[in-house]
Amino acid sequence: MATIALLETVDDLMLLLTDCADAWDMPDRSGDPVDILDHDRQCAELLRRGYPDDEQLQVAGLVHDIGHKLVPGDVAGHGRHAADAVRALLGPRVARLVELHVTAKRYLAAADPAHAAALSAASQRTLVAQGGPMTPAEAMAFEADPEFAAALALRRADDAGKIPGLDVAPIESWRSVIVRVATDHG
Ligand SMILES: [Fe+2]
Repeated sequence: MATIALLETVDDLMLLLTDCADAWDMPDRSGDPVDILDHDRQCAELLRRGYPDDEQLQVAGLVHDIGHKLVPGDVAGHGRHAADAVRALLGPRVARLVELHVTAKRYLAAADPAHAAALSAASQRTLVAQGGPMTPAEAMAFEADPEFAAALALRRADDAGKIPGLDVAPIESWRSVIVRVATDHG
């Protein structure tokens, strides 16, 4: 089992996110058509527009796929790796939302056939390694989770934020938001 370096400061996180330029969810480039930095910024931007008052959700979107950078190739564990890395710095809710982006994918695969059919080819392939579509009992339990709506919002932004060449705000524009989330959670 790989050991994940915990992110202790906002600078640590900003450096890691910057390092996600030209880093890919699948090391052999068979996955998403944008690198992790572009993908995470697109996802966060959609959440910033749709949920302007929920900065924890926005920042969860910004960091949700850093697990691919931390442990390249561990598709099934990438949500947990990212959550573990950010929990101390960004707080338990952000960590949980990050981890739930894989859970929400399994939910939507079962509950929303149109969404499932529209998943990128890479996302459809990795769904199997991530546990496949939820059973009805798992889906009912997830619907009762207090973070159900936020987790689904993150997942929909995740699936939409894969547009090559899209111009989005630079990573530095997120520093003050990250600082607020890091300061306020505890
Ligand atoms: Fe993603």
